[in-house]
Amino acid sequence: MQIFFGADYYPEHWPEERWETDAELMEEMGLNVVRMAEFSWTKMEPRLGEFHFEWLDKAIELLGKHGVKTVLGTPTATPPAWIIEKNPEIFPVDSHSIRRGFGGRHHDCQSNETYRMHIKRFVTAMAEHFKDNANVIGWQIDNEFGNSHEDFCMCESCQAHFQSWLKEKYQTIENLNREWGTCFWSQDYDKFEQIPAPKLTAAGENPSAMLDWKRFCSDLIVDFQQVQIDIIREKCSNHFITHNFMGFADKVNYFDLGRNLDFISHDQYPGGFFREDAQEKEERLASTLDLMRGTKNQSFWIMEQQAGVTGWQIMGRAPKPGQLAMWAFQSIAHGADTVVFFRWRTCTVGTEQYWHGILPHSGKPSRRYYELKDFIAKMAPIMKDIQGAMPKNEVAIVYSYDQKYAFKIQPHHRELQYVDQVNRYYEAFYHQNIGVDFVPDTADFSQYQLVVAPLQYIMTPELEEKYKAYVKNGGRLILTMRTGVKNKNNVCMSEDDLPGKLSDLLGIKIADYDCLTDVNVSICWGEKCFEGRKWSDMIEPSTAETLATYGSEYYKGMSAITVNQFGAGKAYYVGTEPDEALMQHLSEFIVQELSLNRLGYAEKGVEFAERSTENADYLFVMNHTDQKQKLSVEGNWKPVLDQKSELLPFDFNIFKK
Ligand code: GLA
Ligand code: ZN
Repeated sequence: MQIFFGADYYPEHWPEERWETDAELMEEMGLNVVRMAEFSWTKMEPRLGEFHFEWLDKAIELLGKHGVKTVLGTPTATPPAWIIEKNPEIFPVDSHSIRRGFGGRHHDCQSNETYRMHIKRFVTAMAEHFKDNANVIGWQIDNEFGNSHEDFCMCESCQAHFQSWLKEKYQTIENLNREWGTCFWSQDYDKFEQIPAPKLTAAGENPSAMLDWKRFCSDLIVDFQQVQIDIIREKCSNHFITHNFMGFADKVNYFDLGRNLDFISHDQYPGGFFREDAQEKEERLASTLDLMRGTKNQSFWIMEQQAGVTGWQIMGRAPKPGQLAMWAFQSIAHGADTVVFFRWRTCTVGTEQYWHGILPHSGKPSRRYYELKDFIAKMAPIMKDIQGAMPKNEVAIVYSYDQKYAFKIQPHHRELQYVDQVNRYYEAFYHQNIGVDFVPDTADFSQYQLVVAPLQYIMTPELEEKYKAYVKNGGRLILTMRTGVKNKNNVCMSEDDLPGKLSDLLGIKIADYDCLTDVNVSICWGEKCFEGRKWSDMIEPSTAETLATYGSEYYKGMSAITVNQFGAGKAYYVGTEPDEALMQHLSEFIVQELSLNRLGYAEKGVEFAERSTENADYLFVMNHTDQKQKLSVEGNWKPVLDQKSELLPFDFNIFKK
């Protein structure tokens, strides 16, 4: 499979006479793949059992003649009106008991048996029809699972499925009552059938029930996807199967969702989404891509890469000259093997009239088309060499959906967010040009010099043992505030003082803690003073050495950051959210101690990333600023794209050795 660049194409939005022009322009631009059909159920089946794939056959063939292959999306995020009319119970129900209506997308209940029956029926017909089409190379299942589903679905069917999921997990209602702590507020259940989906209550909610609900919702989506995977795998054994992920979105656990896909895809919109006006920070764009690579520990596709101004009702800034290309380059730098731009041409109808494509409304090539065309011409020769290439990072950050869910349920501090905390550590290494992998807590840590595991709030005996073994064998581990607090069912543990069974690994005990609602604390590290935010753990070291102490509040003088030698390794504990300066100080201290390898040196705004094959290492550098930047790349790196030792605004280059 040698596909590098493509576009998301909606031939059904345009008169057929235009398709040829589109195909010619795509070929001229260097595109060789399109994704199509992921929302066009009614066009393919306007009435029950009446299939119309001929328009799609035509488009596929025409594009194929211009060297453009097709990835087909299954249109299951848009159940047609004629299905819903007969079975309105397919509409999802939210936590306010409101059944959502028609007129948008994602109006589906994923546990609904009637809907699943329609999906099986339709996907079987679609797979059967396209299985031998030489221009079709693969499938995208549904579209962005979890998108818009945050508060869905709490209908009776989903409630019943939740009850079965719980029955399987806890076996007896007595077990569930004990594990959920239903003795609190008289919440004991006599039978599983009494357990609600977590709709709005009069007051409060049970954190254990909420965590299980979030896990259930994720499992439901994985199962929903599997139904389609099974059909397509059986019928289309030559085609790949993927799904387009959404970075740090969390309705579904992406480690689970990726398991049975050939590779994952991701949708990357650096310009931000229509609900927020701010463009995403470069660091967050990088970490998003690294998380996506980490979900399967494998290179991936971008199925939607920003190609113009983003916006639904409200729009973002116009990407500056060079910026769209540089953002696409960044995706490749972090592990994308193929980049598909969203979308080919800006739509004149529907919700996304202002989510701009490569071509403007008029369909006439303009700046975006030529910029991306040049980009593709420049990149295509190197793309074949880096297919499948992965970085050789020395640092890993543990990413966990359970921890994320638990903090969503109880954030502690008004502004404490799991993803934000994780990214603070990521950024500290990013700014030193040190590559980072995201790994699940089930990963093998032994290949890493340093593992950073923020907010290990939910703790299990297995994970405790795993962290201990890693450090004992020479690994370096950073753990933080709110570690070892709860068991896997979101219940506070009480056998030991915090951080529980990890006390000996860390050589500390947490005497007390303080949620910094309205104040920051001062943190002293040697002669230097910094700030801690949101949380203070008052640390009493046993065997640990103190690196920093509190400089204010009644716990002034107590330890705030510690390090403990444990076996052949060291475990660090950070009892607060370090401000930027403290984070920098701490990470530089550790980078120096471990002599971690920096990819290069440059001013802030210049990013480095590496991918390696068996034959060569590739260093990607890019300039996120609108200023010229100097570069210093040490070692025997040879420039690949051009010979300059500086980067123009939004410029990029690749070095090889
Ligand atoms: C998502 C979806 C696309 C489109 C874009 C723009 O990424 O997958 O279908 O809606 O956003 O809004
Ligand atoms: Zn439902």
